[in-house]
Amino acid sequence: MRPPVPEGFPTDLHVVDRPEAALLPPGPWILVGDPAVREHWQACGLPEPAGSRWVSVDESTKRLSTLEPWLEAWAALPLHRNACIVAVGGGVLTDLAGLAASLFLRGVAWHAWPTTLLAQVDAGLGGKTAVNLSAGKNLAGAFHPPERMVVCRSFLDTLPARQLASGRWELVKTALLEGDGSWAEALLALERPLEGDLVRALGIKADIVHRDLTEQGERRLLNLGHTLGHALEAASSFRLLHGEAVGLGTLAACLLAERRGLAPFPASLRRALAEALRPLRGVLPPWEACRPWLVRDKKSAGAADGAVHCILPRPGARAEVHLLAPDAWAPAHADLTRLLDTPWNAL
Ligand SMILES: NC(=O)c1ccc[n+]([C@@H]2O[C@H](COP(=O)([O-])OP(=O)(O)OC[C@H]3O[C@@H](n4cnc5c(N)ncnc54)[C@H](O)[C@@H]3O)[C@@H](O)[C@H]2O)c1
Ligand SMILES: [Zn+2]
Repeated sequence: MRPPVPEGFPTDLHVVDRPEAALLPPGPWILVGDPAVREHWQACGLPEPAGSRWVSVDESTKRLSTLEPWLEAWAALPLHRNACIVAVGGGVLTDLAGLAASLFLRGVAWHAWPTTLLAQVDAGLGGKTAVNLSAGKNLAGAFHPPERMVVCRSFLDTLPARQLASGRWELVKTALLEGDGSWAEALLALERPLEGDLVRALGIKADIVHRDLTEQGERRLLNLGHTLGHALEAASSFRLLHGEAVGLGTLAACLLAERRGLAPFPASLRRALAEALRPLRGVLPPWEACRPWLVRDKKSAGAADGAVHCILPRPGARAEVHLLAPDAWAPAHADLTRLLDTPWNAL
């Protein structure tokens, strides 16, 4: 299936059941892939051109130093400007390979074949590539959209359940930024999203990033759940996975929206969100641990008073962006904690 994309969108998008050789680049290419999916890649009969590498990467090796040997090896082959980098892996790998592609010969094409749900619905699309610096995550990077993104649902067969559940929160976030509480509830009732869910979510993201590639305005909507979420993720010392922190941050954003007088979502949605998030209660960092991270969030936009962009969802309409002091999140964090402590039958 082909998600709907706006006219002139730079990425050719595909959602397929299994990897298909017909979707590989027509010209010279080289692969950078996660060893976790190599067997599946081979079982589908897909090639590995000379010089391809299968490399395990994680958040701690999402660094510039990881890229240098890749660039050296490509130059030694040599790869030319007409070559394409095919990245097959989770968001860490697609962020690294996309940035390497943007640097090599001042920019060669790349294709994203994301293999985690989170990368399929978020990291692989939208042109952001980056590595971490000591001061924080994703602080050195480039906007370099992939020429093609191929979402193969069969990669999810081997994905650990926790990673699958983590990626689902980016879909729930997308549903709520559209104000579609029923879609969010339907997503929460499924272990694995349907093809139609992926196609719809990708279409929404494509539409938003095409109008605002560099996040000057509308793209901020995609940060729903991330304002508090990033702080929770960091304050938990990354014991919370990114998507898990986004899930907690999304429920907190719903609670903050209500506190600020926006219309509430139905109680059934709040119950479903709280139920799905309750297992994370034990790793929810206290507000005092989150606050410093919110204050230094790079999305604070440098506002003189330290205000941060907060995305507040509302039923039946697109979410709203509010500039608020970081401390506005304190009562929402308290509401979230209380909700996760409430027995399900009292919700
Ligand atoms: N560029 C963007 O717009 C953007 C957006 C969101 C997140 N990100 C980045 O994405 C990263 C997180 O990505 P992630 O959640 O995919 O994590 P990840 O890349 O660390 O992958 C999670 C784990 O799953 C394994 N794995 C990957 N595919 C598998 C499969 N099919 N079967 C079995 N195991 C598999 C990986 O080896 C890894 O251990 C973060 O670094 C984040 O900053 C980027
Ligand atoms: Zn995210």
